[in-house]
Amino acid sequence: MNDLVDSKVYLNGEYLPLSEAKVSVLDRGFLFGDGVYEVIPAYFGRLFRMQDHLDRLQDSLTKIRLQLPYDFEQWMEILSPLLDKSKNQSIYLQITRGVAAKRDHAFPKNPIPTVFAMCSDIKPFAGVEAGVKALTMEDSRWEMCNVKATTLLANVLLRQQAVEQGCAEAILHRNGYVTEGAASNLFAVIDGILMTPEKTAEILPGITRKVIIELAQANDFELSEEIISLEALQAASEIWITSSTREIIPVIELDKKPVGDGIPGPVFNTMNKLFQQYKQSV
Ligand code: PDD
Repeated sequence: MNDLVDSKVYLNGEYLPLSEAKVSVLDRGFLFGDGVYEVIPAYFGRLFRMQDHLDRLQDSLTKIRLQLPYDFEQWMEILSPLLDKSKNQSIYLQITRGVAAKRDHAFPKNPIPTVFAMCSDIKPFAGVEAGVKALTMEDSRWEMCNVKATTLLANVLLRQQAVEQGCAEAILHRNGYVTEGAASNLFAVIDGILMTPEKTAEILPGITRKVIIELAQANDFELSEEIISLEALQAASEIWITSSTREIIPVIELDKKPVGDGIPGPVFNTMNKLFQQYKQSV
C-alpha cells in the first residue's frame, strides 16, 4: 500500500491524495460490507474490456438493489484521470450503500452511495513462468457468489489458509464438485478437453474467464463449460487460475501432488500466448 499513499484517488465526485480520502464510520460498507466492487485492468492507460466490467458491476448493483445513474461515458470520465499511460495498472472501484444515520440492517430510505476508486500498478506475477501451488478447500462462502460483493471474509480466510501453507490459491469445492478459487476462476485440462465450471450463482462470472472462452472458441480448442468433480480436478493434466490482476496462472501442484508433469502444460502455453496477443491487440 505504501507506494499508493500519495496517489490520486476518486471519492464521491472529488480527486484527492489517498492519504486524505476519508469515509464515515457509519458507512454501510464499513459496518455491514454492504457494497460491491470491480477490479478493472488498464494497459498503458486503456481500460481492458470496460463494457464487460461495467455490465458485471450493473448486475451486482441490481442484485443488491442499489441504483447508480452512471453510463459508460460517465464512468470513463470518472476513472480516466486516475490512469497513467506509461504503465500497466488496475482500477479498484467500490460502491457502498453509503452513510446512514444509525446502524440498522435494513436499507436507509434514500441512500446516497459512496463511490470510491483507486489505481495501482500491476506488477508481473512471478507464478506465470514457474506455476504455483494450490490447495483444495470446502467452499464456505454464501450462495450469491455471482455478486462481486465487498463482503469477502470467507474468501480472505480461505486464501490466508492457502498462503500459510506456501500456496498461491485455495481452490474451492461444494458437494464434491469444484467452483473457483478464493479470488480467481478455474480451468482444467481433463482428457484433452479444456474445461471450466459452468456459470452459476456459485461462481463469479470472471472477465478473464470470458476472454479465455472466446479465445478457445475462436482457435478451435475443445472446450466445455460443465460441472467438474473434485476427483476429476485432482486427475487433470493441467489446472489454471484466472483473474484480472494475475491473468492466467498455471497450477503445478495441487494438494501437494504434481499436476500433470509438474510444469506449466502445453495448453496453458498456447492459451497464454493467445491471451498476450489479444491484450496487445485491444
Ligand atoms: N477478483 N472469482 C473470484 C471470487 C474473484 O474474486 C475474482 C477476481 C475472479 C476473477 O474475475 P476477473 O477475471 O473478472 O478478475 C473470480 C479480483 C481480481 C479481486 O478480488 O481482487
